Amino acid sequence: MLLYRALDLPRRVIRKLTNDRRDYRLYMFENLQTYLGGRTPSSILEIGPRDGVDSERLLTLGADRMVQAELPHAKDALEADLAGRGILDKIDIRYGNIMYDDVLADAVPFDLIWCAGVLYHNPEQLRMIARLYDWLAPGGTLVLETATARRFPTRGQKCVEIWHNVPKAVQNRHHLSHHITHLPSISAVDAWLSLVGFSKIEHSPCHARQSFALSRVRGAFVCQRSHDAVEGAYYSHTDENYPIGRAS
Ligand SMILES: C[S@@+](CC[C@H](N)C(=O)[O-])C[C@H]1O[C@@H](n2cnc3c(N)ncnc32)[C@H](O)[C@@H]1O
Repeated sequence: MLLYRALDLPRRVIRKLTNDRRDYRLYMFENLQTYLGGRTPSSILEIGPRDGVDSERLLTLGADRMVQAELPHAKDALEADLAGRGILDKIDIRYGNIMYDDVLADAVPFDLIWCAGVLYHNPEQLRMIARLYDWLAPGGTLVLETATARRFPTRGQKCVEIWHNVPKAVQNRHHLSHHITHLPSISAVDAWLSLVGFSKIEHSPCHARQSFALSRVRGAFVCQRSHDAVEGAYYSHTDENYPIGRAS
């Protein structure tokens, strides 16, 4: 990490001198705009909005309908933030756990799903990606951003790091907390997107544009649920007697 901080030093100095406050969330939104190429999604789902920073940007896309899904405990803080930004009345907020509560059943499908900083808080990550696929309309776009594997020997492999019974000092060194247990590598997320059936998968360089260190520990993707069924996508096989990866 010291090496990365050293590599980032010139950029940090320039950012400070020029008062450049742009961050990876803005860059990720710019990637999305490029990916959409001027298309306007008619419906948007934002998962885990927390502070409304991305919500405000997403609203500028001009969709007819914007829905958010957030855990119930975050209700007061989220609504205060959205009210402060003057956008609370523009959003239909559903409170519940998207993995286990049926809060979106009457709202799907969406043309765009924005899911940033959420995947790594949930241990059933492949299943979450499959759900996002199911909630997109054909031709719809997914933006998926997440913290990723931290350990030097594993973060370049297609794998998931399990963080369990790790000493507090090690957690602190890697900026992790006890409720984060599964950290997929960037290439694991890429593989899952493809396995589930997404196409036109692009790795967003948004973190690297902010800092090299950040790009070592987080990943972001923009991809599409294609109009046609994807032949050969492993999770679209239904030759077992249940749909693989889609247990309800
Ligand atoms: C680290 S914050 C990310 C906030 C923001 N999207 C960002 O990129 O900075 C994660 C948010 O996702 C929400 N979240 C995590 N798992 C969720 C789930 N299964 N269902 C609904 N919301 C979830 C949390 O409550 C929290 O607001």
